[in-house]
Amino acid sequence: MLKVSSLEKRFGGLTALKDVHFSVTQGQIKAVIGPNGAGKTTLFNLIAGTLRPTAGDIRLDGEAIAGLPSSRIGMAGIARTFQQPQVFTSLTILENAMLGGHRYHRGDFLSCGLGLRHTRREEEKLRERAEKWLEFAGIGDIAHRNASELPLGQQRYVEIARAMATGSKLILMDEPAAGLDDTETRELGDMVRAISESGTTVLLIDHHMDFVMSLADEVLVLNFGERLAEGTPHEIQNSQVVIDAYLGTDDDA
Ligand SMILES: Nc1ncnc2c1ncn2[C@@H]1O[C@H](COP(=O)(O)OP(=O)(O)O)[C@@H](O)[C@H]1O
Ligand SMILES: [Mg+2]
Repeated sequence: MLKVSSLEKRFGGLTALKDVHFSVTQGQIKAVIGPNGAGKTTLFNLIAGTLRPTAGDIRLDGEAIAGLPSSRIGMAGIARTFQQPQVFTSLTILENAMLGGHRYHRGDFLSCGLGLRHTRREEEKLRERAEKWLEFAGIGDIAHRNASELPLGQQRYVEIARAMATGSKLILMDEPAAGLDDTETRELGDMVRAISESGTTVLLIDHHMDFVMSLADEVLVLNFGERLAEGTPHEIQNSQVVIDAYLGTDDDA
């Protein structure tokens, strides 16, 4: 569904990504790992349209999306969560979870010409999906409370619910388990599996090896902006080049 080829991103003299290529198959949970500064978040920013690549190609179901504005990429079916949860404390939890869809859903563009019915349908679907994933996260019953009351772990669930509420076919999750304890991380794993089973393809960045290796169908390893390896968790854990460069030395591992 997603095909990345010869992707490059330079920031002035710094090459953050160089000749990165990989693909994601529909229905997969694919993980991106690599030390800090490896270019993981930059990769997500390029896919989501927050940054424009210096070179290379990104295709979603055959459609070239590299360099398109993030709103267009959102409408093409990609949603994301951020490393730092972006929660608006003046809004309720449910309002926060419904925010992403207002940026993406077709109603914004069609409502002028077609009246409000379509917009209301979209709004209902947005609400249904937001409620479903807040429910799954165990915060459905407090969805009408102000989001400022939520601890970090639950703010992350709001982010995930927001991305899922858009009905996107691919979700990018940047370090969803960062700052979570073991129990929260396990619960998050269940949520990611449920997301995958619901038909949404998952591309996720994380540092927690147990989490990634138990969850992912395939793993892409980045190192200094380059594609070091790609394979099943078993292949990656037994890859000498990965062990030498990363697994053997990273404290987080
Ligand atoms: N907007 C930016 N401007 C300049 N340099 C950046 C920018 N974003 C990231 N970088 C640099 O690119 C490299 C990769 O960063 P990043 O993608 O955040 O790594 P990771 O997410 O793997 O930790 C780092 O050296 C970082 O400092
Ligand atoms: Mg990062």
